[in-house]
Amino acid sequence: MIRPRRNRKSPAVRALVRETTLSASDFIYPLFVHDKNTDEAIDSMPGCTRWSIEGLLKEAGEAQALGIPAVVIFPAISEDLKSSDAAQCYHDEGLVPRAIKALKAAYPDLCVITDVALDPYNSDGHDGLVAKNEHGAIEIINDETVEVLCQQALCHARAGADMVSPSDMMDGRVEAIRTTLDSEGYQDVSILAYTAKYASAYYGPFRGALESTPKAGDKKTYQMDPANVHEAIRETLLDEEEGADIIMVKPAGPYLDVISQVRNATTLPLAAYQVSGEYLMIKAAAKDGWLDEQAVMMESLIGIKRAGADIIVTYFAKQAARCL
Ligand code: PBG
Repeated sequence: MIRPRRNRKSPAVRALVRETTLSASDFIYPLFVHDKNTDEAIDSMPGCTRWSIEGLLKEAGEAQALGIPAVVIFPAISEDLKSSDAAQCYHDEGLVPRAIKALKAAYPDLCVITDVALDPYNSDGHDGLVAKNEHGAIEIINDETVEVLCQQALCHARAGADMVSPSDMMDGRVEAIRTTLDSEGYQDVSILAYTAKYASAYYGPFRGALESTPKAGDKKTYQMDPANVHEAIRETLLDEEEGADIIMVKPAGPYLDVISQVRNATTLPLAAYQVSGEYLMIKAAAKDGWLDEQAVMMESLIGIKRAGADIIVTYFAKQAARCL
């Protein structure tokens, strides 16, 4: 008789036939940084912290010691430095360039990734520049935004970033950033593109962490409609053509079909971002013992990997690496 259960009979046999494995080297660890001397717990994301630069160094060092190869930094910018042109985003003495320099000086082998988008710096809270059209409605203006994103990417490259990661979803930005970096001598700085980034309610806790919720309107004219998957393939083919080094799908858990289809559409490495809301749901359910946090965390990550992601951006990176 054919008995599939024979392949499940012991931990040793299960280990032999296991199709997917997780490793600390799969993870990118997102870290929040602010321009203060103290570390502050983030209310909307239990277990996460807005770090001082000193705290950031300690946390990144612990992550690297656990085998995590990369961090991505998100800045919380004080209100008085935000403006409608988001000019602070390419200031060479700004928070992000200082954080990059400190990280690279302390850990030359750590891969330091930066987020490229205007929302932390934009007084309007959008990823792009905001203009009013003739009817008085707000519009996120694409091509003008892309010019600012190029300045931002260049500023991060000058500070020593290994990878820049445009999360803004403007059209044509991957090609524009590639061209800018190349023409300024940064041909070795990689682009991790948020290729299929959906207009998702799962980003809520993150916007709380950065106080970056849009002042007016939503992000649906640039982030993707959660109902679409062909469009994710279209974005993948475009980003590949424009010169992306790594493709990313975001969020991850509710979009496993997208990860799987994008996997089959490209030979580039594929990342998936387990976002703040996915993290928070597990934390919240585990808080009162409703779910087993560690087991659900590991299952959520193996699911993302099984769907086809090579790389996972996750707030659980350190916690999961400790279990491996
Ligand atoms: C903004 C950005 C967002 C996230 C990463 N970069 C929020 C948004 O698009 O509104 C979300 C990350 C998360 O929820 O964990 N450029």
